[in-house]
Amino acid sequence: MSELGELPGELVQRLGDVHSVGVITGAGVSVESGIRTYRGQGGLYDDPEEGERMVEALSSPTLLRDPDRTWRAVSSLARQVGTARPNVTHHELVRIEQKVDRFVLLTQNVDRLHHDAGSRNIIDIHGDIFATRCMSCGLVGRLEAEELQSLGRAPRCTECEGTLRPDAVLFGELLPHDKLARINEEFYELIPDLVIVAGTSALFPYITEPVLVARYSDKLTIEINPEPTMLSDRVDFTLRGPASRYLPLIAAALS
Ligand code: OAD
Repeated sequence: MSELGELPGELVQRLGDVHSVGVITGAGVSVESGIRTYRGQGGLYDDPEEGERMVEALSSPTLLRDPDRTWRAVSSLARQVGTARPNVTHHELVRIEQKVDRFVLLTQNVDRLHHDAGSRNIIDIHGDIFATRCMSCGLVGRLEAEELQSLGRAPRCTECEGTLRPDAVLFGELLPHDKLARINEEFYELIPDLVIVAGTSALFPYITEPVLVARYSDKLTIEINPEPTMLSDRVDFTLRGPASRYLPLIAAALS
């Protein structure tokens, strides 16, 4: 162990050579802001019935058939986000972005806490729950947190009175093209020296592949998660614990 406490000495040494960083986050990084994860103990899908209802409500068939139901589910997610503020992990990622030559943050989170903390180069692959798009005229907009949290039915477009949809990826929908293109540019065309994956159960290929590509290209890869995932045995270093414990150490070790 090095003087940086809990980081292995070899990792500290390798962090000294890093100039570009890609970070991939999931619901686990928002736990310390008081937001529930999806899976695992206490997660949104922990109760199978509640989970199934939520997934069905947040799906594209339901949006088309019963947009009020989809919006009520989005509204309940917004109530979970409530008045949550960024935590140590979000702030340390801003610090890392300021330290290195190139930084990209790919997040699955829809809570906007990375934006609130001040991260700049963000690919929010699942969108965010406060953004809206008119299903008739395509106008994009935003809802205030209070409005979204108390929504009982689908909001209407101020221009054409059409039904608005959340500008987030629902179950059964394709990922946005422009954001996939950015993943390609930032993680495959120019592979970062270091790829960190933190707080995600790493179930989707667009989350695991950037990590595996970096690993096979002899870049440095780190997973931070209290629980094992399919990536745990495939990264250079697995840091078993909360992201807030390790990210300050990683940020400090970067030159
Ligand atoms: P999950 O709920 O699947 O996984 C959260 C992960 O965070 C788990 O692996 C936990 O062990 C880990 N974790 C918990 N506390 C942590 C902490 N303090 N520090 C670090 N890790 C911690 O959440 P995601 O992987 O983000 O999609 O889920 C992926 C997607 O599935 C979500 O974006 C959502 C969901 O269906 C959509 O809504 C489209």
